[in-house]
Amino acid sequence: MSKNAKALAVSIRERTGDAPVSIGLILGSGLGHIADSVNGVSIPYTDLPGFPHAGVSGHNPNLVIGDLEGVRVAVFGGRAHYYESGRADAMRLPLEVLKELGADTMIATNAAGSMRPDMPTGSIMCLSDHINFSGLNPLIGEPTDARFVPMKDAYDPQVRAGLRAAATATGVEMYDGVYAWYSGPSFETPAEIRAIAMLGADAVGMSTVPEVILARFLGLKAAAISTITNMAAGMSDEAISHEHTKAMAPIGAAKLEKVLRRFLSDLD
Ligand code: HPA
Repeated sequence: MSKNAKALAVSIRERTGDAPVSIGLILGSGLGHIADSVNGVSIPYTDLPGFPHAGVSGHNPNLVIGDLEGVRVAVFGGRAHYYESGRADAMRLPLEVLKELGADTMIATNAAGSMRPDMPTGSIMCLSDHINFSGLNPLIGEPTDARFVPMKDAYDPQVRAGLRAAATATGVEMYDGVYAWYSGPSFETPAEIRAIAMLGADAVGMSTVPEVILARFLGLKAAAISTITNMAAGMSDEAISHEHTKAMAPIGAAKLEKVLRRFLSDLD
């Protein structure tokens, strides 16, 4: 654990109290409002040296620590993407801080394009696995043998089962599928989408995979849910743009929030 992460955790605890955090939530495009319903303390990333600037519109760069459905959570309202800095490990420090604050689980959310005709815009998809289509890795340069992280069951089966039970209990249709990480920031070409679909991916996006690799490296259980904001390039006549992503995200976000809240309230 870096000295920086330890020092940040100390200064965060001075503001939020010492109670350990259980779960970290990383919010994707259009999902920022979930942070508003946390009963706790909000710290702007700008107060946390080394935290990313999270400059993507539709993100809300604050760390909020407090209670959500009876569980102590740390909500990361903004994430750094590889395409902002060229650094695949841009979320390493926030995740180290999460671990240092006591969490054992990270749940990431994201906006994604669907490659499955039966999984339309407005759906949500629980990630069962991923394909690292970027070829990048946040652990490149990590000098210790801990870098050889096993990635089987990277999306924790028990956490996924809890999310599935929460979806069933709330009557929310939640798909299961494989997410492919594309570096961005340009969207994919239709030929790339056909290729990724042939490789076995169900959805595509520009985030989450590096965070899941980092979470596993740090010994955190990981899970992730996508909100499907569009059919992937070439799959339909729908326009693909960041504006469209932000406009469509709330449809899936409402479902995702229901599932997450139920999941948290059912934890003992
Ligand atoms: N591709 C990549 N990232 C995305 C998409 C997409 O179609 N939709 C939302 N984020």
